[in-house]
Amino acid sequence: MLTLDNNCIVIFGASGDLTQRMLIPALFKLYMLKELPTSFAIIGVSRSDYSDQSFRDKLIKHIESDPDVDQAALDKFSKHLFYQAIDPAKVDQYAVLKERIESLETQLEIPSNTLFYLATPPSLYSVIPKNLAAHGMNKEDNGWKRLVIEKPFGYDLESAIELDKSLYKDFTEKQIYRIDHYLGKETVQNMLVLRFANSIFEPLWNAKYIDYIEVTGAEDLGIGTRGGYYDNSGAMRDMIQNHLLQVIAMVAMEPPAVINADSMRDEVVKVLQCLKPLTDHDLKHNLVLGQYTKSHVRGKCLSSYREEEGVPNDSRTETYVALKMFIKNWRWDGVPFYVRTAKRMPTRVTEVVIHFKKTPHPVFSANPPDNKLIIRIQPDEGTLLTFGLKKPGSGFNTEEVSMDFHYKNLKNTQLLTAYERLLLDVVKGDATLFSRSDAVHACWQFVQPILDYKKQSFDLYGYAAGTWGPIEAEALFEKDQTWRSPCKNLTDTDYCEL
Ligand code: NDP
Ligand code: BG6
Repeated sequence: MLTLDNNCIVIFGASGDLTQRMLIPALFKLYMLKELPTSFAIIGVSRSDYSDQSFRDKLIKHIESDPDVDQAALDKFSKHLFYQAIDPAKVDQYAVLKERIESLETQLEIPSNTLFYLATPPSLYSVIPKNLAAHGMNKEDNGWKRLVIEKPFGYDLESAIELDKSLYKDFTEKQIYRIDHYLGKETVQNMLVLRFANSIFEPLWNAKYIDYIEVTGAEDLGIGTRGGYYDNSGAMRDMIQNHLLQVIAMVAMEPPAVINADSMRDEVVKVLQCLKPLTDHDLKHNLVLGQYTKSHVRGKCLSSYREEEGVPNDSRTETYVALKMFIKNWRWDGVPFYVRTAKRMPTRVTEVVIHFKKTPHPVFSANPPDNKLIIRIQPDEGTLLTFGLKKPGSGFNTEEVSMDFHYKNLKNTQLLTAYERLLLDVVKGDATLFSRSDAVHACWQFVQPILDYKKQSFDLYGYAAGTWGPIEAEALFEKDQTWRSPCKNLTDTDYCEL
């Protein structure tokens, strides 16, 4: 087993939501699993005023809300937490931070290995690295220095390129870990194993045998209190540019020669660079944008997007995107990929559906059964294969049956959450599941025409909160194709439009 280097984890944006809700609980879980090194310090950095103790109290209170928590272990873990108030935008204040890190390194016998996690507003993603470098904190003379950058990585293609340029002045690509938490999901990684460790799927995994592919990223929640952020982002930037294009890359990429950061990411970027550029025709006919409107679901009144906190009442930001797209390469030419994502759908479900072609000649019935492979990314993680069976009895009638695997049936297995897995990988120095700069650019390059199109007048369809989105999205499909309904539609008694 690899022994982990002792290190300091410095989290900028330590007073924020991500630190409290995701990062510290993930680090605690790794601690419980004995996946953290023997000596480590987690140093929270932000402008708010906390002592080490009040910072610990705030973060621990959040973890303690889990009734099964091991209180003694949590108390021990909390001793590894420290806090340093600085304004990360002010370069002179980094002297204090540097001194604090060095003093903890001496006290806890930690070599100069430091992971800087940027959980701040994106406007600081180029400022913090520059300020670290001004104090020599990027130098790897006595130990490694790694920089973890949260999404969004840029606002469009141009700003993503600018951000990279700025980072490369002081850090190398090898030091930069761009997080896309979808790549940390067990079920997303499993797509590679499903495809490349089993000889039964891969021979069929191409345009000759696959009719079309659906990728759905549906959420039942609205935008909550994130109106300020979301209204400048929209579903295109929030979900498609990063998470869902990464999922498509996993579905569509060629097998890497070996599993390591370079080989994997070379294949990812190759397929992303083959995404067929969207034409004016595609923007008009293969793209549907929508926004949720007010409705009543199961007796509860759901606000419209425009009524959400922080959203202008004439906002034209999309909370729904459906897109028909293609990959121009040998394997996928002509196979439509239908991608949809939205807030305020009837349920939360992320899944990939591979629709195999029908048999060439219908021997048993006019309408042969569907062969579908459904990769359930979340919730109820698993894989479902549907195929035809002879209906018992006389004649040769068919009916559709399935084979269904659920992760929850694996005994004695605990799935790491995305942040647990990704934090562990950064500490190990494994960048395989992090987005490389060229892949991020390829994703922006693909969505850029949509971002430009949204600057002009465009059709934005309303859909009642709690429904599967605008009816217009059905028109994207070719004959015999349609969205799979991952759960029953709400009935009239469940739901009424206001
Ligand atoms: P919050 O608004 O909750 O926290 C932001 C943090 O940055 C605070 O610690 C704040 O601390 C600090 N900060 C805010 N403004 C400034 C400023 N002008 N100068 C210096 N520091 C500032 O955001 P989140 O924690 O939700 O998100 C952090 C980042 O992570 C964002 O980029 C977000 O896009 C990304 N992200 C968040 C997710 C989440 O689930 N929350 C999921 C995926 C990505 P203080 O004011 O004390 O300095
Ligand atoms: C985040 C988006 O990156 O991903 C959110 O900003 C979205 O809007 C979330 O809800 C979805 O992640 P998950 O893991 O819940 O599917």
